[in-house]
Formats: sequence, C-alpha cells, structure tokens
Amino acid sequence: MRDILVTGGCGFIGANFIWHLLSEPDFAGRIINVDKLTYAGNPDNLAGIDEKSLGRHIFIKADICDAKAMARIFEEFDIDIICHFAAESHVDRSIESPGAFIQTNIVGTFNLLELARLHKNRLTLFHHVSTDEVYGSLGDDGSFTEETPYRPNSPYSASKASSDHLVRSYAKTYDLPVTISNCSNNYGPYQFPEKLIPLMILNALEKKPLPVYGTGLNIRDWLYVNDHCSAIWTIMKKGTRGETYNIGGRCEMQNIEVVKTICDLLDEMVPEPDFGPRRDLITFVTDRPGHDLRYAIDSSKLQNELGWVPTESFNTGIKKTIQWYLDNKKWVERIKTGEYMAWMKRQYES
Ligand code: NAD
Ligand code: DAU
Repeated sequence: MRDILVTGGCGFIGANFIWHLLSEPDFAGRIINVDKLTYAGNPDNLAGIDEKSLGRHIFIKADICDAKAMARIFEEFDIDIICHFAAESHVDRSIESPGAFIQTNIVGTFNLLELARLHKNRLTLFHHVSTDEVYGSLGDDGSFTEETPYRPNSPYSASKASSDHLVRSYAKTYDLPVTISNCSNNYGPYQFPEKLIPLMILNALEKKPLPVYGTGLNIRDWLYVNDHCSAIWTIMKKGTRGETYNIGGRCEMQNIEVVKTICDLLDEMVPEPDFGPRRDLITFVTDRPGHDLRYAIDSSKLQNELGWVPTESFNTGIKKTIQWYLDNKKWVERIKTGEYMAWMKRQYES
C-alpha cells in the first residue's frame, strides 16, 4: 500500500476514520487528507495527529470541485486508494440551500472519478462513502437492503444518490475498482453540533430548548462512528470490487426516545439540583419538509460475507459520546465561535 487519499478527513466521520486507520496494525501507508475546510471541516478534529502519525498524515486544503488542484495532488502523490467522504452532509442545509450539495456531492465526486480513471493503472480501489437516505423512507415494517430501489427525498439524499450512480457507472463502463457503502445515522466524538445528538447534548447542558421536529416519532437507525469506520476498513480490505454494502447496527429509535435518553443521562452525569429534569427543555417545532419517517438498515451482507460486527450498543455508545462532549470543552467552545452559531441563530432563534 502506498498513499491513501482520504477526502473530507477533517469532518466528523473522516477524522474518526483517520484516527482509526492509524491504529490499524495492517495499515502501513501514508494518508493524504484533502479537505476544503467548510463550516463542518475542523482541524481540531485531528489535533495531535502529527505526533501520532509520525509523518504519515499529510493535510492539503483543497476543494474536490477544483479539478486542477485535484489533478496536481494526483501528480504529486502516489495515490493507489481513494476513500471518499467529502460531502455537504446536513439535510436541513440542503433544504435551505441545495447548490453546494450539487457542486460538492455530484460535481466533486465526478472530478475524483475522472482522476481515478486517468490514473487507473495504479489505482486499486475507489471507496465511496454514502448514506442509507438514498433509499428514501420506510413504513412501519422492513429494512433497506442493497437491492432496495433508490427513492431519495431531500436535495442532500438526491445528490448522494447521484454520486452513487456515477461511481457505479464508472465501475461498469471503465472497469474502475470501486466499492460503495450506504450507512445509517452515525454519532460519536467530533460530530458537528447541527446534527440531532450533539445538538441535544450541548443545548441540554446550556439549558436551551431541545427542538424536536414534528411529532418526534420519526425513526433513525443509530451506529457509533467507530463501528462505521471499522466497517469501511473491512470493506476496503475484503469487499468485492463493484459491490455495494449496507452498514448499520440494528438500533432503531424514535427521535423523542433519543432525546429523552440524552436528557436522563445528563441528569445523572451532570446533576443540577436547582434545575428541573432536562426533559422539560423538549420543545416540539415545525417539521422538516419531506421528513423521512423511518430508516432501518439490513447489513447482513456485510456481516455474513465479510464478517463485520458492530461493537457498541446505543446504551454504551451514547454514554461514551456524552462523556466525550463533557471532556472536550475546548473543542466545544471553539466550534461555537464559528459560522455554526450564526446559522443556528437564524434557524432556531428568529
Ligand atoms: P461532515 O459534514 O462532518 O464532514 C464533511 C467534510 O467534507 C468536512 O470536513 C468538509 O470540510 C469536507 N468538504 C465539504 N465539501 C468539500 C469540498 N468541496 N472539497 C473538499 N472537502 C469538502 O460529514 P460527515 O457526517 O463526516 O459525513 C462524511 C460522509 O459520510 C459524507 O459523504 C456523508 O454523506 C456520509 N455519511 C454520513 C452519515 C452521518 O450520519 N453523518 C451517515 C452515512 C453516510
Ligand atoms: O441516515 C444517514 C444520514 O444521517 C446521513 O447521510 C446524514 O449526513 C446525516 O446528517 C443524518 O441525516 P438525518 O437527517 O437523519 O440526521 P439529523 O441529525 O439531522 O436528524 C436526525 C433526526 O432528528 C431526523 O429525523 C430529524 C430530527 N431532528 C434533527 C435536528 C437537527 C430533530 O428532531 N431536531 C433537530 O434539531
């Protein structure tokens, strides 16, 4: 293995993946981390990486939509594997302003595929990180398999579906060695506090309202981020080229259950005798347009064929996650001074 290109390595899952990769005994190469550093790209997520990686992590600030800059990176480094995380990732932002999603998620992925095609002789794998949201929404029963038809419902999921189709087409048309993973909702350290779980943890700590969309009965299938990282690495090592793998932990929960669990754990972990139960902060707000009712992932292909199993239950993962946000006050403070605050203000305080 020579150089692995990780796009979006300063984001939530990308950064966790880089830390994970450096702890893998069977990874010996260098990591070329290309990230544009949008509001969601946070160099603090990789604080201390130089000492830990002993020069095996190289950061380059670049936009995957900039074809020339990306071409230069492919000239400079001997990239033989691509693991593509970079994306605009937040559904609410895609509803408010879809343009960046079309650019990064579709055009950016196209640029990378074109470079992969150009350098095909040395490329052993293009792994594309995608989402279960491409499958649309489920009713009360069933779960998404790799055979479920694509029915994306938001500009975000439509842009990810489009990128999945492009990746698949490059495998079929140009014989590019690709794998695709479609994963359910992640949570854990370094997640930007616009997503449900970190938003609720930080708001509850600050005694701010906890905005639950609609009835709160929508269901998501939660997976601790390290389990997602180990699944991706398993697919990269053992997955059949040209195949898609679903990733999930079989952990379906209604949003309201998730929020109540966070409130109750915080009441135990950070007791505030003069403040009522944190559940009192729950505030039902206007629903998200086109809000998918239920996601549930069937990951039996990944488990049966490649032997991957998740290690965290929601119970253990959520405790670790809350503890991480409690222990990393500096990270929290710094992120709060960023663009995030202005957006959140517009979203919830107008
Ligand atoms: P994130 O928003 O936390 O991070 C995205 C990263 O990509 C940031 O570091 C950002 O700076 C970078 N980026 C954005 N546009 C870029 C561009 N044009 N050029 C270079 N870098 C750019 O996202 P995340 O939650 O870590 O998600 C990572 C990937 O995993 C995405 O592809 C997402 O669709 C997928 N995914 C996420 C989840 C989840 O629950 N968060 C679940 C399944 C799949
Ligand atoms: O399923 C995988 C997807 O999970 C990823 O592809 C996306 O990148 C990731 O953002 C996530 O999408 P969701 O829309 O499911 O995640 P989010 O954290 O935004 O919302 C989770 C649920 O909680 C959803 O039903 C909407 C609801 N919600 C969210 C927020 C931010 C609320 O009720 N209140 C909120 O303030």
